[in-house]
Amino acid sequence: MNDAPIGVFDSGVGGIGTLKSCLDLLDGESFVYLADRSGMPYGTKSGDEIEKRVDECVRSLLDEGVKAIVVACNTATNVGIAALRKKYDMPFVGVEPAVKPAALECKRGNVLVLLTPATASQAKFLSLLSRFDNGRMTIAPQRGLAEKIETHIDDIESLRCEIYDVLRRYRNVEGVVLGCTHYVFLKDIIRDFYGEKIKIYDGNDGVARRLKAVLEENDLLAAEGKHFIKFKVI
Ligand code: DGL
Repeated sequence: MNDAPIGVFDSGVGGIGTLKSCLDLLDGESFVYLADRSGMPYGTKSGDEIEKRVDECVRSLLDEGVKAIVVACNTATNVGIAALRKKYDMPFVGVEPAVKPAALECKRGNVLVLLTPATASQAKFLSLLSRFDNGRMTIAPQRGLAEKIETHIDDIESLRCEIYDVLRRYRNVEGVVLGCTHYVFLKDIIRDFYGEKIKIYDGNDGVARRLKAVLEENDLLAAEGKHFIKFKVI
């Protein structure tokens, strides 16, 4: 079982950044990355629809014999991870908007939280926010942005003007929380807009650290040796 791969899924390419962080920290592990392109976008779907898609992703990864699953999508984590943990007897690691480090580190200016409409309306996210909102957080759901990133992944630069138009609406920003894994691909554009001093937060390294801890706790770390990465699209 320890040599079995770890499943990682998202609605598309967003979770690739999460996969990279996991690979950097756990280089002896094998991974199956699943992009649910037929379910994309999750961020404007109802909770029931997202739960159905997420369950389909999990079943597809179970067919690959995975030993643990990373839900590399803020929307899927907020909507569906509790139900997955109830239904399946295996470790799940999710990703959530990194509002905690942003609240602790941004003492002067505002924190802009970019996320999908579905994540913004979830009780799980609202409860996280209520614990860490320092009164300077702006919650900014982005309808359609994840899809644009998905379709322009080979030419993210072509989205620059559109992203600048979004960012122009927010003033005195000290930190930006990327609360959707797709938005991590916008880091350079966001830094160019606000300048080098801007603090940008995403959950990818945190997920990798949590995954490592969960594998250790469950005695599931792979032995040294051959490993692989497989990509699957449904
Ligand atoms: N990448 C997903 C997230 O982190 C959402 C993308 C989508 O709307 O499908 O929220």
